[in-house]
Amino acid sequence: MVPSVLTMDKHNYKNQAPYIVCYAKKIHFFRSIFIVTFFLLSINYYWPRRYQLTRFRSPPICGGRAPNDTITPLKNQRTFIISAYKDNREGNIIRILGIVHHQEVKELYCYFCCNSNTNATTTRAGIDIHQDRFGFPYGLADIICTEPPDCRAEFVSVHWSPSEVVHNLTSFRIRNRDPGQFTANFTVCFSTMFGNYSNVLQFIQTIEMYKILGAQKVMVYLNNCSQQMEEVLQYYTEEGTVEVIPWHIQRYLKVSHNWQYPNDGTEIGYYGQLSTLNDCLYRNMYSSKFVVLNDQDEIILPFKHRTWDSMMESLQWENPNVGIFLFENHIFAKTAVSNGNFTNTSSWNGVPGSNLLQYIHREPDRPNYFNARKMIVDPRAVIQTSVHSTLKQYKNFKNIPLETALVHHCRGPLQPQLPRAALIEDKTIWSYNGSLIQNVNRMLEKFITKP
Ligand SMILES: *[C@@H]1O[C@H](CO)[C@@H](O)[C@H](O)[C@H]1NC(C)=O
Ligand SMILES: *[C@@H]1O[C@H](CO)[C@@H](O)[C@H](O)[C@H]1NC(C)=O
Ligand SMILES: *[C@@H]1O[C@H](CO)[C@@H](O)[C@H](O)[C@H]1NC(C)=O
Ligand SMILES: *[C@@H]1O[C@H](CO)[C@@H](O)[C@H](O)[C@H]1NC(C)=O
Ligand SMILES: *[C@@H]1O[C@H](CO)[C@@H](O)[C@H](O)[C@H]1NC(C)=O
Ligand SMILES: *[C@@H]1O[C@H](CO)[C@@H](O)[C@H](O)[C@H]1NC(C)=O
Ligand SMILES: *[C@@H]1O[C@H](CO)[C@@H](O)[C@H](O)[C@H]1NC(C)=O
Ligand SMILES: *[C@@H]1O[C@H](CO)[C@@H](O)[C@H](O)[C@H]1NC(C)=O
Ligand SMILES: *[C@@H]1O[C@H](CO)[C@@H](O)[C@H](O)[C@H]1NC(C)=O
Repeated sequence: MVPSVLTMDKHNYKNQAPYIVCYAKKIHFFRSIFIVTFFLLSINYYWPRRYQLTRFRSPPICGGRAPNDTITPLKNQRTFIISAYKDNREGNIIRILGIVHHQEVKELYCYFCCNSNTNATTTRAGIDIHQDRFGFPYGLADIICTEPPDCRAEFVSVHWSPSEVVHNLTSFRIRNRDPGQFTANFTVCFSTMFGNYSNVLQFIQTIEMYKILGAQKVMVYLNNCSQQMEEVLQYYTEEGTVEVIPWHIQRYLKVSHNWQYPNDGTEIGYYGQLSTLNDCLYRNMYSSKFVVLNDQDEIILPFKHRTWDSMMESLQWENPNVGIFLFENHIFAKTAVSNGNFTNTSSWNGVPGSNLLQYIHREPDRPNYFNARKMIVDPRAVIQTSVHSTLKQYKNFKNIPLETALVHHCRGPLQPQLPRAALIEDKTIWSYNGSLIQNVNRMLEKFITKP
């Protein structure tokens, strides 16, 4: 197949069959090599380049071993370290994100390898468990250590006793030491992708919409997805849009599918959603001007502007003291299907998943009901975040009115009893039809003909 959008479209108009055969063959081919590639890729992502080089050239004189997963259990299995960040906003503070048992973890120590000392310097950590734990025994905590004076440690280790041999501990690279420059205006942080996630078409459309709206990067904390979804994630990883962080939390903790504790012996809510959101925020604190915190079935759609850039420029100008912008969530129910009579979408038929362009009816707000919001934040203004609001921050928040934008949340209905006439027609997503269809087609063409 000639790698050109035009050729593919002509091909599709005449006869869809060869395309599907080609697609199926390709999928089969990828299935055989994908697991290995994806594994290598994840490892490569997981081990940042500098870390590899540093360890290769000059192993830290007093450091311990490197983590072998995104989540590292400490020996007593009550504390799980995710990653360590220099917090330049608060003096010499190292903020380590970890999941802890809220009653049983009272004492932790940081081990710093300072300069050329062979012995680590130990300081006692403060433990700040995030307020939103939703009743589960385990929750995200900020493990906060003050870096010793004149110390510029590249790694930090954590233990509940102050007298361990640092070689026997795991050393975490301290990220965000050098703020550097923005490489993105907008980075989207999804909470965990889990449960054989296989809504491939909607995912591709969503990523392409984010790019049209102004995103350069999308972070995926991957617990589990279908084979085809893995291939799509690999495509976008190679393109540079997606960064996959392996997130196998159930190796260590009993996860709940609920956000709130059902008193059923589970240990942490919703696959550790709050941990991934906060980790994503800190990972992108200095590389991204804004961070967008929403799920993979949600798109913040502006009404007054065409892109997030122009919308945020205007919102920031109007609200100079605001760093957290909250957008109303509105349900576009997958039960109300509309056909937009769009051309050039025949290649989508072979792709599993929902087609965003078919859902233009949203449910009205329910009175006396919590209508959720999602956020675009200046990450440097946030200390701790929850799902629908931040918990600790340096700047104000603002609820953005519906006239400006909404969160287009395409999913099953929350009010299934409502007749179609009671739904609100909202064709905003259709106004992006031209570029969306073209970009999705271009992606599918490259994805399928990829050597
Ligand atoms: C369909 O796509 C082709 C190639 O991208 C383009 O030339 C053509 O104008 C499109 N048709 C419509 C109706 O948008
Ligand atoms: C990481 O290393 C520890 C100790 O060496 C081992 O028990 C554990 O299974 C490893 N985890 C993974 C994900 O490889
Ligand atoms: C490092 O620790 C060892 C054993 O705890 C001790 O004997 C040695 O003096 C220490 N070295 C320095 C430079 O503090
Ligand atoms: C540290 O590891 C060594 C082997 O590498 C072991 O002999 C020693 O007992 C360990 N020390 C502690 C305090 O666990
Ligand atoms: C961010 O936005 C500015 C202005 O809107 C633009 O000039 C710049 O290229 C964007 N940065 C990236 C990384 O795309
Ligand atoms: C996802 O879970 C299914 C069922 O448990 C399993 O077969 C599949 O290998 C998992 N995929 C990944 C990427 O972990
Ligand atoms: C995962 O989803 C795909 C696509 O829907 C399906 O073909 C496959 O059987 C599912 N796998 C598991 C382990 O549920
Ligand atoms: C769909 O579009 C075609 C041309 O693109 C037009 O001829 C036809 O009337 C349209 N159908 C509907 C139901 O709008
Ligand atoms: C598709 O987008 C164009 C502008 O990009 C707009 O004129 C047209 O009305 C849109 N189509 C639909 C069905 O909304």
